[in-house]
Amino acid sequence: MDVMLQRLDSMDFASYRQGLVALLLDAVSHGASVGFLADLDERGAAEYFAQVHAAMTEGSLLLWVAHEQGRVLGSVQLSLCQKPNGLNRAEIQKLLVHSEARRRGIARLLMQALEQEAAAQKRGLLYLDTEAGSDAESLYRHLGYSSIGGLPDYACGPDGIYRGNAIYYKTLSRPSA
Ligand SMILES: CC(C)(COP(=O)(O)OP(=O)(O)OC[C@H]1O[C@@H](n2cnc3c(N)ncnc32)[C@H](O)[C@@H]1OP(=O)(O)O)[C@@H](O)C(=O)NCCC(=O)NCCS
Repeated sequence: MDVMLQRLDSMDFASYRQGLVALLLDAVSHGASVGFLADLDERGAAEYFAQVHAAMTEGSLLLWVAHEQGRVLGSVQLSLCQKPNGLNRAEIQKLLVHSEARRRGIARLLMQALEQEAAAQKRGLLYLDTEAGSDAESLYRHLGYSSIGGLPDYACGPDGIYRGNAIYYKTLSRPSA
């Protein structure tokens, strides 16, 4: 596999902006429940990534891309809790792999890079939520994440139908006293 992984800083974000927009539109058009409805368009996706970029610039969000020959095939974000009493935790968000590049181990690679950096930044508690019963649940279980249940009718997918979520966590390390 010639897939390259890169954690973007806010300076090199611009080079990948279009690829990230295309990746998000692909995910939503294939039914992924990642916060958007089916009417998401380029403009809406670009507005979302402007917010992502602002959070990266202020230091509260890390973002990785997986790319192959210049094409963005996957991405994941780690939102670092900014509360003084929550510096041990971070939320995994928007793990996306292009529909034409799935089951090649790209999500696994992205998650490995994310966990390595989380450990380095002493974010020992990682958590996330995903649509109950989705493909992503198999992935997170495969990577050692534990389910603590979920909430009914938590969010709707692109089709507008509300479904429950599943909440997962993984402890990389315990905070030192
Ligand atoms: C979930 C998603 C990120 C997986 O990406 P991927 O690159 O295809 O995953 P990988 O190839 O790294 O899979 C690693 C392991 O996860 C599990 N897995 C991944 N996709 C799976 C699927 N569709 N069905 C069952 N198990 C799956 C398998 O155990 C797989 O190992 P294997 O291929 O050796 O059996 C991708 O399907 C996706 O982008 N879905 C839409 C967006 C989404 O739901 N994201 C999660 C938001 S929280």
